[in-house]
Amino acid sequence: MSIKKIAVLTSGGDAPGMNAAIRAVVRFAEHSKIQVMGVFRGYEGLIQEDLKLLNHRSVSNIINRGGTILKTARSEEFLTEDGQKKAVKVIKENNIEGLVLIGGNGTYRGAIELSKRWNIPCIGVPGTIDNDINGTDSTIGSDTAVNTALEAIDKIRDTATSMERIFVVEVMGRDSGFIALSSALGGGAEEVALPEAEFDLDDMYQEIVEGNIRGKISWIVVVAEGAGKAQDIAKKITDVTGLEVRVVVLGHVQRGGIPTARDRILATRLGVKAVELLMQGEGSKAVGVISNEINIVDLEFAITKKEINIESLYKLVKIVT
Ligand code: F6P
Repeated sequence: MSIKKIAVLTSGGDAPGMNAAIRAVVRFAEHSKIQVMGVFRGYEGLIQEDLKLLNHRSVSNIINRGGTILKTARSEEFLTEDGQKKAVKVIKENNIEGLVLIGGNGTYRGAIELSKRWNIPCIGVPGTIDNDINGTDSTIGSDTAVNTALEAIDKIRDTATSMERIFVVEVMGRDSGFIALSSALGGGAEEVALPEAEFDLDDMYQEIVEGNIRGKISWIVVVAEGAGKAQDIAKKITDVTGLEVRVVVLGHVQRGGIPTARDRILATRLGVKAVELLMQGEGSKAVGVISNEINIVDLEFAITKKEINIESLYKLVKIVT
């Protein structure tokens, strides 16, 4: 039996390209004669019945916009059984036969609850700048975030070399070193600290001192949010080496901005695939792309720890310094 109505929501930290995914979901569903309800503020909106029917025109001119037109939130209430019951009631009363949920780990955990515990068909679309979802090479927004960090590092390099200074740049990623590693490699940083790898501060001080003796004065050290506070690392560098250090915390600028072509294309492919899966009767899957081919995994697998290529990529930062 063909489905007639689905819903789409974005949840957790927003990511550039989420809008392109919403657009793809709405337009492909409409093309397939399926109605789409937009849910506002993620699981919060589901609980509070904050829904709106979306059509072709509701998603015009959003493919190039960062953020999410559906807004997003991290819902405490949805973590409770009561909250989930309310959400399920809203889903049933609105005749919603399946959901496309765009977000990261927390979003997928909610989707697992809905699908496994309450039997609501759910398809996850990976939308997070952290690139920490399994079963996909890349998550929507991660390419844009890395490019934003890179642009900042390039600018920092100009002043770092001109004034012969050391900079510690803190990038986002509480549990994931993806942005740090990618922007350090792409930006030619001398050092990078990741939550996934042991980082030997003493080694770094030693290298700075030795480099200084050779006449190397400017350094860029990239630190992932989850690997330590940039201020603390900067202070220790000064304490040990006696050199002046400046700190830049890039923060939420990395979450905004115009999505790159890669993120828009990924979002479009995955949004369409998610609707297709619901039409085929799938109910607890996550979509992704591996080696440029669409890849479907169980939601449970998608939230398992994604290994980033620490060994080779991390070493590369040092080799090419
Ligand atoms: O969306 C992921 C992320 O940006 C992480 O990299 C970061 O640690 C976290 O969200 C920050 O969350 P918030 O916006 O709630 O401060």
